[in-house]
Amino acid sequence: MYKDLISPPDLLMCCPACKASVYEGFELGNLQCSRCNTDFFSIDNIPCLFANGKQQKHAWESTLGPMFDQWRTTIEQNTQDLKRRDLISALRGRLATMIQLDKTTYNTFQDLIVNKTGLTMRPADQNSLDSEFFSGYQSLLFRDWCWEEGRQENNDALQRLLANIEEPLNNGEINVLILGSGAGRLGWDLHCTLKPQATVALDYNPILSIFAKRLIRDGESVRLGDTRPYPQSGQIGLQDYELKCSNPDKDLAKSWYPLAADVTSAPLNKNSFDLIISPWFVDVCGQEMRDTIAQIDTWLKPGGQWVNSGPLLYMDPMPYVLRYTFEEIKEFIALSGMEFQDERHDLVTYLKAPNDNRITQEEVWTFSVRKPKDNQYKGEHHEPPDWMVMTHIPVPEIKLEELPDHPIIIETYKNINGKNSINYIASVIEDTFSPECDCVELVIGLIDEYIFPREKN
Ligand SMILES: C[S@@+](CC[C@H](N)C(=O)[O-])C[C@H]1O[C@@H](n2cnc3c(N)ncnc32)[C@H](O)[C@@H]1O
Repeated sequence: MYKDLISPPDLLMCCPACKASVYEGFELGNLQCSRCNTDFFSIDNIPCLFANGKQQKHAWESTLGPMFDQWRTTIEQNTQDLKRRDLISALRGRLATMIQLDKTTYNTFQDLIVNKTGLTMRPADQNSLDSEFFSGYQSLLFRDWCWEEGRQENNDALQRLLANIEEPLNNGEINVLILGSGAGRLGWDLHCTLKPQATVALDYNPILSIFAKRLIRDGESVRLGDTRPYPQSGQIGLQDYELKCSNPDKDLAKSWYPLAADVTSAPLNKNSFDLIISPWFVDVCGQEMRDTIAQIDTWLKPGGQWVNSGPLLYMDPMPYVLRYTFEEIKEFIALSGMEFQDERHDLVTYLKAPNDNRITQEEVWTFSVRKPKDNQYKGEHHEPPDWMVMTHIPVPEIKLEELPDHPIIIETYKNINGKNSINYIASVIEDTFSPECDCVELVIGLIDEYIFPREKN
């Protein structure tokens, strides 16, 4: 057993690779799965549960190495520039401050992310992630834990969620899941308000999870220099900050669980959560909305609630056809059998920084959805069929006299029994194909062509 591992209640969890529950071979406390033989790891006692097991650690290390190199290069370059004779004194002062702040941040990161975790720095290799992976969301740390403007922004976000969360939620005896918890503030504030038996704060960025854990669970404060490159005239300018949790609560923190995992293959058991929150997440999580809805439907307990809040600012390379609108998303939710409850649209200021004159406003769509208590899928006839659009719901049974004599078509047909979904059938046949093959698409194609052909006009 890994001593001090911050394990969420194990019934909520499963193996991210083979989906074995704790009864089927997944050993959360030992960070391994004896069913599929995947070994996992932890950093700073945060379980890191990725389908590729320990390879994920390697990917982080070969991304962190170049990031720290780049950082040192910037500090060295600025230190060289400081020696230039032609610098006016204001500029000299700014450069010196910049170097100092960069060093502060560098040292904090080195201490928290390297010295205290045992992560090693590796040179870039084929496993390295996009260079933006770690640096892209650093503003969230400042917004959540020090900027004055951030306090208001977070509070407004919390109020929008609370207005959509139905009371009473089982007298607090609930499990809450935050998808893409980022630097952690919103999920923590919600945890302090609802006092559930567990909040799982899931994010695939270990840096954000480590900071959140240090501030929330360990009650530490850390110093970071804000040197984002937009010093504007008349503004406060470069500054260093102490980041700390303004509402610490050691007891409540024990039931707030940071979890490093990728939503696209998350280690979460079905029917486990009473409340799932997706703040500023569904448009940036790298998978198409229908899959996210399907997962949420799967992880929610019958009667459970999903509250989303955030814009729809899809990022490249999301194809145009998958950049769904509000109305399309509502239709997918209805096709899944979940009930759309309420919605609101707010124009909100996003990530307003003290040393930045620009203001970004986003249209935030907050809605709540309920999974029906009876959880019986009430398939109705649509064209295209519901089960073909939302591939996690059961394909209805069909009796055919004749079928092409092809093993994959026969296997697909054998699995159509009124209970299995296209996703399930795809998982049954996927071993036959190379990992690049999109088996969901393949099963849809086979069903469309040979099993449930479209009605001819
Ligand atoms: C726009 S930020 C929002 C963070 C936080 N919810 C908030 O409101 O401040 C999106 C977050 O989702 C995380 N994220 C993106 N894709 C993810 C994935 N596939 N699995 C887990 N986390 C993901 C990012 O690391 C980031 O922290």
